[in-house]
Amino acid sequence: MNTEAIRAPSWHIHPDAEALARHLARAIARMADAAIAARGAFHLVLAGGNTPQPVYAALASRGRRWDAWHIYHGDERCLPPQAPQRNSQMAASVWLQQVPIPRAQIHDIPAEMGAEAAAAAYAAILPPQRFDLVLLGIGEDGHTASLFPGQPWGLDPATPAVLAVHNAPKAPAERVSLSAWRLRRSRELFFLATGSGKRDALAAWRRGEDLPAARVGTGATVWLDEAAWPGS
Ligand code: 6PG
Repeated sequence: MNTEAIRAPSWHIHPDAEALARHLARAIARMADAAIAARGAFHLVLAGGNTPQPVYAALASRGRRWDAWHIYHGDERCLPPQAPQRNSQMAASVWLQQVPIPRAQIHDIPAEMGAEAAAAAYAAILPPQRFDLVLLGIGEDGHTASLFPGQPWGLDPATPAVLAVHNAPKAPAERVSLSAWRLRRSRELFFLATGSGKRDALAAWRRGEDLPAARVGTGATVWLDEAAWPGS
């Protein structure tokens, strides 16, 4: 069992979701430039849900050297590929379809195969090296990606890099998620949280509650707006 101590994240508070999206898109574009200059490629894991949408939309006009971007997903919902609720569809519609990232470098989770088969297939395509940046959301219950309280989180590197998730408390119940250890195998981790609905989960994180987001987010950076800030 990975017993790495929970290290407090750093909190970046922005006036509102629009300002957060603007600053975060700029920070991601800068990180991409630096990674491409240093290593010739930028390996980015995307967060699902609604919160990242304005960030992805802002990135569409900010990024460059798209030929060197490699895109992965932190989790996916077991729905048909064209289903609008798919995290891959969300990212494609607001950003990826508008920029020339080579299709072979956009790695969607084949969640339409079913959770078990998709988890095994995705584990086989993940890069051997660390990601450059992992983006993550947080749910009201403190979940992140599709790692939910009371379910396996995959903290131990001896466990699979990608988990099949069943009976998820957030619809749809069947999902696929990168495990906690594989999400953490990244140079940087950024969490995104906007709106008062996330305040309790962030307060619980700050109190030191053992939540999936807190375990994955050890030493991470949390980008949030004032509405989500639980106060000191
Ligand atoms: C998913 C997500 C999930 C999401 C949080 C926050 O597929 O549902 O990956 O982990 O990030 O539930 O969702 P919102 O951003 O929509 O509040």
